[in-house]
Amino acid sequence: MSIVFRKNNCIAHMKNDKLSYIIEVVDNKYLVHRYLGSPLRNYHCNENLYDFKRAYSTVGDISLNNVYFDDIPFEIPTRGRGDFRIPMLSIIPENGVDYLDLNFVKWEICKNKPILEGLPSTFGESDEVDTLKIICEDDIAKIRVIMYYSLFKERGVIARHQKIENYGKENIVIQDAKSWSVDLPFQKYDWISLYGTYAQEANIERFSLHHGIQKIESIRGSSSPQHQPFFALASSGASENHGEIFAFQLIYSGNFIAQAEMDQFGNVRSQIGINSDSFQWTLHPGESFTTPEAILNYSQNGLNEMSQNFHWLYQYHLMPRRFIDKRRPVLLNSWEGMYYDVSIDKIDRQTDLAKELGIDLFVLDDGWFRLGNTSESGIGDWQCNESKLPGGIKRISQLVHDKGMKFGLWFEPEVVNKNSQLYKQHPDWILHVPSYTPMEGRHEYVLDLSRKEVRDYIICSLEKYLKPGYLDYIKWDMNRPLTDVNSSFLKKSQKGEIYHRYILGLYEILDIITRKYPNLLIEGCSSGGARFDPGILSYVGQNWCSDNTDCFDRTVIQKGFSMLYPPVAMGAHVSITPNHQTGRETTFDARYKVAKMYNFGYELDLEKCSNEERDEIYKQIISYKKLQKLIMNGVFYRHEMSNKNYEMWSICNENRSECHVMIFQKMYSPLLSHERFTIPYLDQDMDYCEEESNLIYGGDELASIGFYVPIIKEDFHVFEYHFKSC
Ligand code: GLA
Repeated sequence: MSIVFRKNNCIAHMKNDKLSYIIEVVDNKYLVHRYLGSPLRNYHCNENLYDFKRAYSTVGDISLNNVYFDDIPFEIPTRGRGDFRIPMLSIIPENGVDYLDLNFVKWEICKNKPILEGLPSTFGESDEVDTLKIICEDDIAKIRVIMYYSLFKERGVIARHQKIENYGKENIVIQDAKSWSVDLPFQKYDWISLYGTYAQEANIERFSLHHGIQKIESIRGSSSPQHQPFFALASSGASENHGEIFAFQLIYSGNFIAQAEMDQFGNVRSQIGINSDSFQWTLHPGESFTTPEAILNYSQNGLNEMSQNFHWLYQYHLMPRRFIDKRRPVLLNSWEGMYYDVSIDKIDRQTDLAKELGIDLFVLDDGWFRLGNTSESGIGDWQCNESKLPGGIKRISQLVHDKGMKFGLWFEPEVVNKNSQLYKQHPDWILHVPSYTPMEGRHEYVLDLSRKEVRDYIICSLEKYLKPGYLDYIKWDMNRPLTDVNSSFLKKSQKGEIYHRYILGLYEILDIITRKYPNLLIEGCSSGGARFDPGILSYVGQNWCSDNTDCFDRTVIQKGFSMLYPPVAMGAHVSITPNHQTGRETTFDARYKVAKMYNFGYELDLEKCSNEERDEIYKQIISYKKLQKLIMNGVFYRHEMSNKNYEMWSICNENRSECHVMIFQKMYSPLLSHERFTIPYLDQDMDYCEEESNLIYGGDELASIGFYVPIIKEDFHVFEYHFKSC
C-alpha cells in the first residue's frame, strides 16, 4: 500500500493491490482527477485528453492546452467558473455570490485514519490505512477546504471526507458540501441502487446510465427505506463475479443525495453527500464544518467483490470493535407473538420454553410502557405499565436473568406521544413550526435532538434501566420520518442546520450510551429497515432488516441488503404462517433456512407452536450455532442464476475449506429447468464432501459442473448444503 508523490510533487498516486487513484495539481493551483481503476505500477502522466477545444467554451488561467473548464475532471468542482456540471461545494462568502476559486496549497501523508468529530467514521491502525490530506484555499473568500482520503491496505476501498474552515472575519454560508465527487471517463455504465418502502426494503434497481443527471435522495430526515445512501456504476454487463464496479456509500443516517451526471461527451461525474436541498450551515469566523465520510469501493470482479469489500470494511473497520468477534445471541422477540398485549405470565411461559429450546436472549418489544394496547400512549415517559407487568422491568429482568437468559427491551427514544406527560410539560421540545399544528406519525411527534436538554432527558430515560443492570440489549426503534423540521431553540440563521443537527444529536446520544455501557448490544430498527445505514452500524451490533418476515419477500430484502452489509449485521427472524404481513403460507423449514445465514432469531408465540415445531426449533438452534462462526466471519456470495425462479447464497471460510449453501426454489413449475448450481470460488485442487449426502465433489467439479437439486412440488422450498474439504 502506498501514497506517493511524483513529477515534482504534482501527482499524488494512491495505490494498493486492488486500485489506483490519481490526482494531479495543475499549475500549482487546480486539483484534477486523473485516474481511478485497476492498480497501476506507475503513472507517467501522458494524459492527452484535452487536445481539442469545443465551441463556445470558457476557460480560465490554466496552462493545459485547448481545454475548457466544463470538460476538466476537477477533484473539487465548484460553481461560477465555467464548470457547469454538478458542483461538490457551494459556499456563499460575505459578498453573497456563489463563487469559489480554490487554489491548491499543499498535500501530505498522514500515518493514521482521522476520526471525524461528532460523526461516525471508519477506523484503522497505521499499518492498515494511509491518509492523504490536501489543503486548498480561496484566499479572497477566506475559505479553506481540507480533504482527507484514507486508503485501506487490503481492499479496493478509500474513505473520504472534507473539512471546511472559515479563516476570514465574516460569516460564510455553506449551501452544499458533498463528501465525494469524482469524474469517471467515458464508458457504458449501469446505475445500481437500492429502493423500497416499508416492509419491502432494499430492492435492487439497475438501468443504463444516460446523459444528464440521475439521482436518488432522501429528505425524510433519515436515510429512509425509499433509497439506501449508496449507488454503484457498473461496467455494462457486469455481474456478480465479473466486471468493473465503482460504488459509493455515505456513512450517515440523515438526508443524503447520490447522483451521477453524464455530460455531453460521456464523462460521468459521480457524487455522494448530505442533501443540499434541506441543508444550509453558517460558519462564523474561526469555525469549521466536517462532512460525513463517504466510501469509494472499487471492484474489478463484479458485485460480489464490491459487497465483500463493504462487508469487510463495516464489520472490521466501522461497527463497534467489541463486536468484531462476538457471537450474537439467538433471540426471541415478543412483537409478533404478543404485540402490545404483554403480561408477566406470558413472558414467564415464553421464556421457560425459550430457555429449553436454546434461545439466549428474550426481547420485550413494544407494549411494556403503553397505557392500553395501542400506539397512542407512553412513549416519552418510559414508565413501565405495572398493571400489565407488576414489579416492572426490574422484576422481568430478574425473571429472565434467573433462567440464565439475557434480557432486552424496546425503546423509541427519539419521539414522544402526544398524550404523554413529557409532551404536556415540554411542548417546545418537539420539532415544530410555531402557530402551526405539527404532524403526527403513529401518534408521535419527533423530539428536537438539537437541544442538549432533550438529549440529556433521553439518556436519563434509558439509564433508568441501564444503570441498575436490567438490560443486556436495546432495540432502538424510530418509526416516523421528520416533519415540521424547526427548532424553537435555534436562531433564524441556523434554520437550515436542523436536519443535520438532529443527526449529530442522535449520534451524540448513541456515543454516550455505548461508551458508558460497552457490553450493551443495540439492535438498530426503524419501522424495519428504514434507517439501516453505515452511520447507525457504527454504534450498534446489528440492525433489523424489515417488519416483513415473510420468507419469500425476505429472499429479496436480504439479498438487497447483502449488497452492502455483512450477514452478521442483518436481523432475520422465523415467524408464524400464514405470515402476518403478507398472508402467505410457507413451511417452517423454509422460514428457518431463509433466516439462518443472518443474525438469527424467532418472533412468534412459542406456546402456539406444536410439539413437533418446538422439537424443530431445538434442532434448528443447535444447527445454527454450529454454523454461527462461519456466518460471522465467512465470506458471503450471491450466485448468478440463469433461472430466476432460483436464488442461491453461500458463505465460505477464509481458506475455502468449508462452505454453506442455501438454494431457494421460489415457485414450483412443471417447466422448472435443470439449473446447475455451481460454486466458482472453492479450491480447484481439493475434494469436498457434502455433509448430508456424503457425496464427494472436486472443487473444480463444483466450479464447472456443479450439482442439481431435486424437483420438489412445493412453492418456496429451500435446499441446504454444507461442503467441507476432505
Ligand atoms: C416497528 C418495528 C417492529 C416493532 C414495532 C413495535 O414497526 O419495526 O419490529 O418493534 O415497531 O411498535
